[in-house]
Amino acid sequence: MCGIVGYIGGEEAAPILLRGLQKLEYRGYDSAGIAVLGEAGLKVCKSKGRLAALEEKIALENASALPGAARGTLSLEGTMGLGHTRWATHGEPSDVNSHPHTDVSGKIAVVHNGIIENHAKLRAWLKDHGVAFRSETDTEVIAHLIDFHYNGDLLRAVMETIQRLEGSYALGIICENEPDRIIAVRRESPLVAGAAAGSSFIASDVPALLEHTRDVYYLDDREIAVLFRDRIEFYNDEGQPVLKETARVSWDAAEAEKGGYEHFMLKEIHEQPRALVDTLRPRIRNEESTDGSAPFRSINLEEIGFDSSWAGAGRVVIAACGTAWHAGVVGKYAFEHYVRIPVEVDVASEFRYRNPVLDPANPGGDIFIIISQSGETADTLAAMRMAKKKGARIVAITNVVGSTLAREADLVMYTWAGPEIAVASTKAFTTQLMCLYLMAVRLGFLRGTLDGEASAAAIEAMEKIPQAAEKILSEKEKIQRFASRQFNKTKVFYMGRLFDYAVSMESALKLKEVSYIHSEAFAAGELKHGPIALVDQHTLVTAICTQSRLFDKMDSNIKEIKARGGTAAVITYEDVTAFDETADEIFRIPRTDESLSPLLSVIPSQLYAYYCSVLRGLDPDRPRNLAKSVTVE
Ligand code: M6R
Repeated sequence: MCGIVGYIGGEEAAPILLRGLQKLEYRGYDSAGIAVLGEAGLKVCKSKGRLAALEEKIALENASALPGAARGTLSLEGTMGLGHTRWATHGEPSDVNSHPHTDVSGKIAVVHNGIIENHAKLRAWLKDHGVAFRSETDTEVIAHLIDFHYNGDLLRAVMETIQRLEGSYALGIICENEPDRIIAVRRESPLVAGAAAGSSFIASDVPALLEHTRDVYYLDDREIAVLFRDRIEFYNDEGQPVLKETARVSWDAAEAEKGGYEHFMLKEIHEQPRALVDTLRPRIRNEESTDGSAPFRSINLEEIGFDSSWAGAGRVVIAACGTAWHAGVVGKYAFEHYVRIPVEVDVASEFRYRNPVLDPANPGGDIFIIISQSGETADTLAAMRMAKKKGARIVAITNVVGSTLAREADLVMYTWAGPEIAVASTKAFTTQLMCLYLMAVRLGFLRGTLDGEASAAAIEAMEKIPQAAEKILSEKEKIQRFASRQFNKTKVFYMGRLFDYAVSMESALKLKEVSYIHSEAFAAGELKHGPIALVDQHTLVTAICTQSRLFDKMDSNIKEIKARGGTAAVITYEDVTAFDETADEIFRIPRTDESLSPLLSVIPSQLYAYYCSVLRGLDPDRPRNLAKSVTVE
């Protein structure tokens, strides 16, 4: 995944592009570059490394220009341009592989997010036509192809070029001969456009635009935007004009800032109580009883279209990637518990290449739940499209309004988490869980597996979660102290049973992502079937213990760890004494309905991962080799 920005207006473009890229650095940060078009023509500056390296390079180039140099002679002067922050796919991170890429004559510049699958064929064809390539990227073919088709009409050249591209792309294109416009186009990679007085913008994601406008246009697949200083025109890929409406972004620029926290990850962990309230509250209502008894609390999902027509489903199928898949695993246990319905859950990259049995002719059909924070993950989108083709009814759980997932699903349930910038997902996970619980309890009620009383009790328990999360956060220093003693342990396991196994998987992922510590999760019952061979005095095992009927089993597992010299930590409720004698450290969470425990039990693990990352001198917001959303396979 990469981030692209574009600006055309009346101000110097370079600082605006760099500020936009700062907001998108979470999308990729192994190299960055900008192209600016001004009186001196098209100028490009790019650099391997984080954005700061590019900023330094630009500052150096400007400093080396002649003192008092006239406008037009400094490098990178001009009031329009493109920017890119890269997560390398084709070709290692290097200055030359960084975007923007230009055609041979250097008059056309292109930034790209996505993958051109037929780039090798196109490269060979262009070479046969005399083109000399500079980089190893798939993107460079686009610049040369546009040049090949260009005969004075950039829009036409872009339209002819995209006919020849296979794969995914969001593109920004400028041409020295047409200094009044930027062309942008997308297919399967996100792109938003926005306008403010006398200027127009494009970006891969909304935070890059918020400084300028909150009214944005989400481009649909194969749509083209032509950005002028005073307007934006939209076309389909056949060149016919398209009328588009703006969407108002409900959060502002401040929400996409660190707000006093040292890192976005810590800020987002702390935002969970509020995010959970925002996700839960609008979906709860007071309902009058028909028999004159007291009003009761119920879940209202009719507004998003989840009405009784979904109640006859024969099965629930869930697919997602990474953290969102872990949410799906919790969802499986929740649907089985509240709805007593068969549930299948799979990682989207497996699901899409299996030959899954989805049969709309089954009594009631399948509810297919697809989960993605970004709504743009390539495998997740592919899984959804396959399920749709096979006739399943699709419910998307996503955090990004207007994302591809949101637009293509039959029904969308938003996680109102606000922007999640840190690469490691935290508040998206817990709000995804909240959505799954809401859906499970509602479906249970509609199908009669939960009566009004049981449903109201579940809702009451859900409403207590945000405050309980607040309490865990208020005790974070204990986790910080533990991390400062343990962060050098490089063999870390999480284990649990049922809901706790799902949280173990998420905990291990969090730790490995941001601290680079090798951590794995296993179902506690599996300990003796293999993992125990790895346990010695260098091992830390955290046991997540929230399912009281299995406490004895968990305690035996902990003893087995201790007997082999391992260190054992436990995450359990504040009133549980079952592990007092065995565990080396106990992190306590407020008591809750045991089926809802993942909403709380994951928070200590998120904090532990964060502190280990910081203690190891790493940047938890931007772990190596990762990107916030994986829009390519
Ligand atoms: O945007 P998505 O929820 O579809 O992203 C899925 C995964 O790539 C994501 O959850 C990833 O595993 C996170 N880095 C986990 O922290």
